[in-house]
Order: sequence, then C-alpha cells, then structure tokens
Amino acid sequence: MSHQSDLIAEDISAYLKAQEEKSMLRFITCGSVDDGKSTLIGRLLYDSKLIFEDQLSALEADSKRLGTQGQEIDFALLVDGLAAEREQGITIDVAYRFFSTDKRKFIVADTPGHEQYTRNMATGASTADVAIMLIDARKGMLTQTRRHSFICSLLGIKRIVLAVNKMDLVDYNQQVLVDVEAEYREFAKDFGFTEITSIPLSALKGDNILEASENTPWYTGPSLLHYLETVPVGNVRQAADFRLPVQWVNRPNLDFRGFSGTIASGTIKVGDPIKVLPSAQESTVKSIVTYDGDLDEAVAGEAITLTLADEIDISRGDIIAGKDNPPEVADQFEAKIIWMHDEPMLPGRPYLFKTAGKTIPGLVTDLKHKVNVNTMEHTAAKNLALNEIGICNIGLDSRIAFDAYRDNRETGAFIIIDRISNTTVGVGMIDYALRRSSNIHWQALDVDKIARAEMKHQRPAILWFTGLSGSGKSTIANIVEKRLFARGRHTYILDGDNVRHGLNQDLGFTDADRVENIRRVGEVAKLMVDSGLMVMTSFISPFRAERRMVHDLMEDGEFVEVYVDTPFDVCAERDPKGLYKKALAGEIKNFTGYDSPYEPPERADIHVSTDKLSADQCADMIINYLEENGYLNARSNDNAG
Ligand code: ADX
Repeated sequence: MSHQSDLIAEDISAYLKAQEEKSMLRFITCGSVDDGKSTLIGRLLYDSKLIFEDQLSALEADSKRLGTQGQEIDFALLVDGLAAEREQGITIDVAYRFFSTDKRKFIVADTPGHEQYTRNMATGASTADVAIMLIDARKGMLTQTRRHSFICSLLGIKRIVLAVNKMDLVDYNQQVLVDVEAEYREFAKDFGFTEITSIPLSALKGDNILEASENTPWYTGPSLLHYLETVPVGNVRQAADFRLPVQWVNRPNLDFRGFSGTIASGTIKVGDPIKVLPSAQESTVKSIVTYDGDLDEAVAGEAITLTLADEIDISRGDIIAGKDNPPEVADQFEAKIIWMHDEPMLPGRPYLFKTAGKTIPGLVTDLKHKVNVNTMEHTAAKNLALNEIGICNIGLDSRIAFDAYRDNRETGAFIIIDRISNTTVGVGMIDYALRRSSNIHWQALDVDKIARAEMKHQRPAILWFTGLSGSGKSTIANIVEKRLFARGRHTYILDGDNVRHGLNQDLGFTDADRVENIRRVGEVAKLMVDSGLMVMTSFISPFRAERRMVHDLMEDGEFVEVYVDTPFDVCAERDPKGLYKKALAGEIKNFTGYDSPYEPPERADIHVSTDKLSADQCADMIINYLEENGYLNARSNDNAG
C-alpha cells in the first residue's frame, strides 16, 4: 500500500502504536457528483498514497475501459463504488471511508446530495467535526449548498471548508473565490459556524489538495490536506461539561457498587464533586475503574466505572455530571426534528424518545412549523413527511436530564422510535426546556375515583368500540348502554359523529386530525372513568398507535377494546349514511377502508363479527364478557337483564 507499508513490514507493533496515538478527524463532504465530490475524495485517498495496490490497478483498468477521463485515472470511480451506482451517476446512503496520513486518522462520511436523502446527510453530519462544502467555481452557490449548510448547522457542525472546486475551468481567477466566499459568509451568518475556511481547488488536476498549487499564487492559505491534518479536534467534546449516562449499575458483590458507561463529554478526576440527575443527589468520585486498572482522570469517549464516596441511589439512565455545571431536568422541550420514515410524524401520536440515558414514552404536543431545507422558510404543517424538518414541542412521560444540543451533541440529541414496529423514525435536537411543566401541579382531590365508583356501586371502565364506518359500532354501543342502564349502571356514550359537532368540530379526516380526535376523546373518556362512569366510545379510531395510547392512559382493566368486525363490502352495502357511495364516486376524500387505512386490533378484548351475528347477539357477547370479568358484580341488587 503506502509510505506506511514499510513500517508495517518492519515493525507491525510500532505501526499499530503509531496509529493508536494519532488523533482522529471526522468530516463530511457535501456536494453532488457534478461538483466533483467523488473526484475530490478519490484524489485525497490517491495522492496521500493510501489506496491498496489491488484497488489501484482495478481503478486504472476501469478508467481506461470506461474512458470517462480519456487515458487518465477517473478518481470518481474509486469512490462511487458499486457499478450500478456508477451507471446512475449517484451515490446512495452514507459511506464511511477510513484513511490515515502520517499525522492523523480520518473518517469521511460521504452522502449523496439529493434532497430526498436529508436523513442520510443528517446521519453523516451528526458525528462530523468539519464539513467540506463543495462548490463548482463556475456555478457558485446553489440551492443544495444552502440545504447542506443548513443541515450541517442543525447537526451542530462548527467548522466549514468552502472548497471552491474546478478553479482550472475559471482560469484560477481569484475574484471567483472572493465572490463565493463573500456570498457564503453573508448567507451563513446565523448558522453558528465558528470558522469558515475557503480553499480554491481543482480536484481533477490536484491543485491545493496536498500542497499549495503554483496555479493559485495569490492564495496563501492551507492546502486541503494540510487543513484537515491541522484543524484542532477532539477537544470540543472533552472541553464540554462532564456527562456520564449510566448504562448499568455494576454490583458484583456487597462491597462494590460502581456506575458504568461511556463518558459522553468532559473529563472527571478522582475527588471531583458530582451530581446525579434527575434526582439531584450529590457525592464525590472515589475511584475511576477501567479494564486496564484504575485511573486518576478520564475523558470523553472512555468507558469507565465510577465509584462514589456516598451510598446514593442511582439507576440506569441517570446522568452523572460535575456538581457545579449539571444538565437541566425537564419533561417538555422545544426541539428540531428530522423525520426519517415513510409514515409521517403525527402530533399527538405516542412514540418512544431515546436520549443519552433513557428511553421514554412521549409525544409531539405541537408541530409549530416545518422548515423548507432549500429556502429556510417556515411553513405551517399538520405532519412531517420523510426528510422534512420541523420545530416541535415535545412532552415526555417523565423528566430527563439533558443539555441544549448546541451545547452538547451527546446529551442534547434523541432518536424517535415507533412503538409498534420498534424502528427509528426520526431524530431530534433539543433547543430548550419548556418551563410550563413545573408550574402546573396535579391537584390531589379528596373525593377520588374509588369513592365515586363505590357510590355508584360499579367498576368504571371504557368500552372502546373500533371498526369501519357503518360497521355497527354505535348501534351495538347503544344496545349495550340500554342494558347497563336497565341494571342501574351509570353510563355515557361518546360517539364520533356527535363529538365532531362540538368538542372536535375543528377536526377533519386527515391522519393528523384523526390522531388528535382520538387523543381528545381518550382524555375525555379518562375523565369520565375518573368520575366513576362506564363509558362507551364509538369511533372508527383507525390507528393502533392511538388506541394503544388510550389503553396506556388508563389503569389495568379500565380499557376494554371491542372490535366491531364488519368487512368493507358489507359496510358499503349497508351504507347507512350514504357515505360509501360518495366515497366510491370520489366525492369524499380520505375515506376509511377506501383511501385511508384501517388497522384492525391484533388482540381485541372482544371481537364481534356483525356479518355473522345480529346487533343484539353482539351486545350479549359484550355483556357476558363484562359479567365474566367482574365488571358487573359490584352491585348486590343486580337482577335486570
Ligand atoms: S376517526 O377516524 O377519527 O375515529 P370518527 O369515528 O370520529 O373517525 O368519525 C367517523 C364518522 O365520520 C363516520 O362514521 C362517518 O359518519 C363520518 N365521516 C365523514 N367523512 C369520513 C371519512 N372520510 N372517513 C371516515 N368517516 C367519515
């Protein structure tokens, strides 16, 4: 392979040691194939002689065969990799490439430039220290330059290299660089970049890649490689405040109790005072234990076990911080979210939020607006589609310790996980805590749910009817209510059509509106259960996620899911309100079962098939279920049927 191959041959352990001691720079390249991005990376690898010999000969052969650069080597081929991608002329997904020079090791994240790949770029940018923003000298700043810069700023990159490429095609004209740089600085002035370094390049010809080029005598700055080898690294994370998210509590025997994890940021020394969040307990560091023995001091990135001078209660997911500069603690935030899934993000839908320490249920309580990645314009929105970016308020079920993302990328970021499929659907960056939560206290009342239920001699619960429009939910709920009423039960029916005349008058039938519909109905039904009632709700409630959310709002046994299972064709045949006819004629949009989905329950408590049973028989089944499961035995003079 390279200049280092001699050392590998002579003294492999010296080589490995040298590698280990070198600092590491992570950077991302932003630009499109047209800007010469692949050529640039290929040139860096080639000129720093870090290509394996076999790769090199394949490259030479490929270049000649494809003839894209005459008889010269086409460096883009080195990076573009897969044949299929070459033919399409695009690169897909994030490719991480590793290379090293005598001075430093590098990991470069290479992501495609297309708009639909915002998620890939965000992934690559989230760990990068530097972004190389590639600009074609002939074209200057493009829409994609703005988009890439915005995403880099969102993901907390502080250093930008403005790589003005193809200078050979503008006769190495200094004015081109001056103009591009001025325009970029003006554009990016609010992006929080601490350093913008512009370098005139020709990736194809090799100008200013490794060494200063004779073609640009007016340029006195570093070559690209020189910049990459000398830009300060590593100390950003180490200089930040100390944060150790506790991954596990290590208690091999009664005499040892340590708290293990990888230091997210900062440094810690034996004897340092610490504070544990969210509990706010304090102690001091007794020892720092690692696999290689005890340390006096440890820094970001190291996996350690801390023991403390005092016995305090710490659990997995807590954050240990320096006593004087602890993270904040809250359960409500404003954050930026990048959505990464085909299924859109819907405010009000429950998701899991995974932060540095913990995974906690929560929801986006408000989507304030989304941001157009090309123009940075804000637009109102009801949901976030794949690759869209939104400013949101988030409410979690419990408090977490966190930092603002701009202060700490490790403790200020979270990922969003779908509760049903368990896949990652988005990422977020916390801006700040919303203080509201700590000022609204739950009012404890003396007359409580148990007292109210006892007075009514009943066990309150929700009978949650779900099924297609016209499936028979309201008809069956109505019969069940009459029977319960006849037995002296205190009941209430919340019905979709009725609630949509009042409380939910403002909601239509988009996915986002249906989520909000069910969220509100769930909260109202919960209040009714709290008041001691047996509540029947009759809503299509087409999504599992929201039915589960209402289930999770309630205590065990308080949520009884009744699936009114009637095939679409049967409902369309009955068509009690004439809506199927209209939907099939295209007069109603987003009609459930037709052009809007219905997700049937996987395990309903009661499953009634109305094409096989009459409404009365379905009601019988439900009453039987209630009797068998103890919902109806609380009252002694229970005799009517
Ligand atoms: S839900 O999906 O949000 O749970 P909900 O049960 O409140 O719906 O309302 C459904 C009722 O609204 C249907 O029974 C029907 O009468 C009426 N409706 C009007 N437009 C639609 C539509 N596009 N899809 C389904 N129901 C509709």
